[in-house]
Amino acid sequence: MKKLNYSKSINNLKGPKGIPFIGNLLQINKEKLHQNLEQWAKKYGDFYKINFPGLKIVVVSNPYYVNEILNNRPNKFRRLSKMKKVLEEMGFYGTLSSEGEEWKKHRKVTQQALSHKNVENYFPLILKIGNRLEEFWANKFNGNKYLDNYEISQDFMNATIDITTNLAFGCDLNTVYKQKEITQQHISKVVPKLNERIVSPFPLWRYIKTASDRDFDKSMKTIKDIISLFIENNIDNLKRFPERKKQPTNFLEALLVSQDKENPFSWEEIYGNIFTMLLTGEDTTANSLAWFSYYMATNKSIQYKIRNEIHEVLGEEFDIKEIGDTKKFKYLTATIKEVLRLKPVAPILYLQSNEDVILKDTLFPKNTFFITLLRYGGIDEKYFSKPNQIIPERWMQKESKCPFEGKHKEDVILTFGAGPRYCPGKYLAEIEMIVFIIKLIKNYEIELSVPEFEISEKFDFTMTPENLKVKLTMIKSNNY
Ligand code: HEM
Repeated sequence: MKKLNYSKSINNLKGPKGIPFIGNLLQINKEKLHQNLEQWAKKYGDFYKINFPGLKIVVVSNPYYVNEILNNRPNKFRRLSKMKKVLEEMGFYGTLSSEGEEWKKHRKVTQQALSHKNVENYFPLILKIGNRLEEFWANKFNGNKYLDNYEISQDFMNATIDITTNLAFGCDLNTVYKQKEITQQHISKVVPKLNERIVSPFPLWRYIKTASDRDFDKSMKTIKDIISLFIENNIDNLKRFPERKKQPTNFLEALLVSQDKENPFSWEEIYGNIFTMLLTGEDTTANSLAWFSYYMATNKSIQYKIRNEIHEVLGEEFDIKEIGDTKKFKYLTATIKEVLRLKPVAPILYLQSNEDVILKDTLFPKNTFFITLLRYGGIDEKYFSKPNQIIPERWMQKESKCPFEGKHKEDVILTFGAGPRYCPGKYLAEIEMIVFIIKLIKNYEIELSVPEFEISEKFDFTMTPENLKVKLTMIKSNNY
């Protein structure tokens, strides 16, 4: 057996002092968990320890060690086992919840569904939903010059749901117009509940159901019924159009086709994967777009530059037409990178060691619970100059020279994770963001309707801009 070389054990790690029995529980604000942990990282460094009742947690802030952990999956590390349990009892059997060989099987089909080639094939659909959003905003104005106190995040949720349902089971739910039917009422309950249960010290909901648990179960049943209907529909379509077995037209068809092959997916896995796609495809991209809107509203000069770029690239026709167009928006793309650096919607990940492991000079026993900080490196001045400022220029290459002179360590950015479980939806998310932002910025001037200090980061598994309300003012076509 290989001898492990280390000079410290987990007991040598420092960390904030807690209270007997309760540990650090009262020092943490659940909705600001990521910020609390980032703050402590400044004092305690690359690795530190926190305690909750019955639970010791190691926090990893150094982006290179976070990378090492993420890259050593699925063998040395895995997602927190409790997370798998909570996800699967909600019905999410799939890429996000699974581990080891099981995960490889799910990952393969998910990654294929979200490949660059497939996303490029989906482009007309993304554009269609982008046009729908544009039309929806135009109708909202109803002859007025501006819309004030507007909660734009919900529109992004609806538009991303429309894209994801199309991609997942080939059906356009038109949530942008019909709004509350599936998103607000049902899917939007999943993420907070997931977070609540993962961080809960005791699984009370398995023994006693509160009103909120019962309401959640009802929503889950509705979603399950909707998905079951689509499964039946897709089975029918595969019978009617057998040629689709060779070239499935959506994710569900691809999962169903795999039924004919060795090691098929169970019904629970098919349902769970569709559900996973809905969950991961909506909240993440929609909240990134909401954060983008926040930065536009608070940085007028960047907003103007993006609008100018849209005019320059699109010219007279003033509309995006094909996937190739998305590559032409250099400044917009740089701004998206900057927003994703400052506001990664998944600022932390919960992981666990599968065996005894050494990181730096410390031995961590099997089953250590790690919280990895995904944002910390990106906002650390060791790696980025003026780390808390939005400076799109830092991502722009001008004849091999960056127009922003300053520290820039791209490899510490972990917004989409790292290693084999890196987010498979990154390309789709980037293309969606470009299309929706163009639709927004080319038509409207965006400002905040509330004082900036009232908008804050709220963590409930994803990080959302709480209290974001904007004022949209219509721009006449030549008046920018
Ligand atoms: C801006 C948008 C997005 C962000 C910031 C984001 C971020 C992340 C992060 C941090 C992870 C964990 C990666 C890891 O463990 O190393 C992840 C995993 C995942 N994401 Fe995304 N994501 C986004 C959009 C999407 C979209 C649009 C989809 C699909 C439609 C998607 C599907 C998934 C799936 C299935 C996983 C699990 C992968 C696995 O465990 O193998 N994501 N994402």
